[in-house]
Amino acid sequence: MSPQINFVMGAVTGFRRWCGLQPEVLAFAPGRVEILGNHTDYNEGLVMSAALDRGMRLVAARRTDRRVRLASSILGEAPEFSVRDEIVFDERTPWTNYIKGVLAELKKAQIPLRGADVWIDGDIPVGGGMSSSAALEVSTARLFLALADKELSAWEIAHLCRRAENEFVGVQCGILDQFSSVFGQAGHLLWLDCRSLEHGACPAGTGIELVVANSMMNHQLSDGGYNALRESCQRAVAHFQSMITDHPVTALRDVSVEEWDRFKAGLREEDQQRSQHVVEEIRRVDLGRKALMDGDIEGLGRLMFQSHASSRDLFGNSCRELDLLVEIASECEGVLGAKLSGGGFGGCIVVLARSDAAGRTAETLRERFLAQTGTRPEVNRCRIGEGAAVETDLGREN
Ligand code: GLA
Repeated sequence: MSPQINFVMGAVTGFRRWCGLQPEVLAFAPGRVEILGNHTDYNEGLVMSAALDRGMRLVAARRTDRRVRLASSILGEAPEFSVRDEIVFDERTPWTNYIKGVLAELKKAQIPLRGADVWIDGDIPVGGGMSSSAALEVSTARLFLALADKELSAWEIAHLCRRAENEFVGVQCGILDQFSSVFGQAGHLLWLDCRSLEHGACPAGTGIELVVANSMMNHQLSDGGYNALRESCQRAVAHFQSMITDHPVTALRDVSVEEWDRFKAGLREEDQQRSQHVVEEIRRVDLGRKALMDGDIEGLGRLMFQSHASSRDLFGNSCRELDLLVEIASECEGVLGAKLSGGGFGGCIVVLARSDAAGRTAETLRERFLAQTGTRPEVNRCRIGEGAAVETDLGREN
């Protein structure tokens, strides 16, 4: 039996044990890795990512009242609430806010919310940089839409989930994570222009594999570091707006590498470095997409190493543990590229490796990181998986 089937069975069994009922609906949404485009999404730039064959699974049965009961094998229990009342932020059980935020947005979109018993299972680390939060949001949206027999388009779901995170949870994230979780395609790397929303998928090609290594430094996007970086980018936008007069500047997307160099004077050092990272990173994604389309996977890998160096030296969102993981990966034969994935300050790195080298690379990362830090990292060889999905006839099958 494949690990995925096993995992579905595990979620269904977990649900039955928890509440003794027959589950009706199962929703899955994957985590993601960021291949290129670190902090370019909210600067209206380009990103490249991949959905993983891992994520969050929500199993549920409708209730006759309008109460929502949540429990999870990985997140613990939570106080129940009613979708009839106003949905309020929960300081004491922070993970529930990703779910509540989505429910509040579904309500605003006039989706008639049902009460439900919901069991949550997952095989990505929470707060580990694989976007467990977007996976939780997107699976919640798919689940409650199915429970209400309603549909929204893929983009409506991605935007709604991002709004939930921006407005309810209070993290000013971009669209990368929700886009990847919704639009994932097995075996494909995704690209997105975060301004025009033009997007596509390129086959990752045979003979390569992703290895994801968790530094075990739990990154907390909601504790302010992420929003501070965003503010630094905004200050830089205001500066370039006043300096560049021959075309409009509304985001760092509008500043070329050459313009950055010409007009950077006058920016405080921190904002200068942060904005340099962003304008160069947007160019790297463009080059990376071309490399991928030309089948130049080594070129893509080199850009990933450059991206990590830029996050470390200019953007300031790496940490010792992430740098060490990237350094170990860079010394492994058959590794083409490696970089931190996502917000930074901890979490995971993603390694692009030749398939025949992936197992050995994973082993080396485990051994050397443990030897040098005393911490055992979680290292997984990951397949590139499909986007979110929902199964509505569990009741019949089980
Ligand atoms: C987090 C955010 C994304 C994106 C990345 C950094 O994952 O949720 O929107 O900004 O960080 O690229």
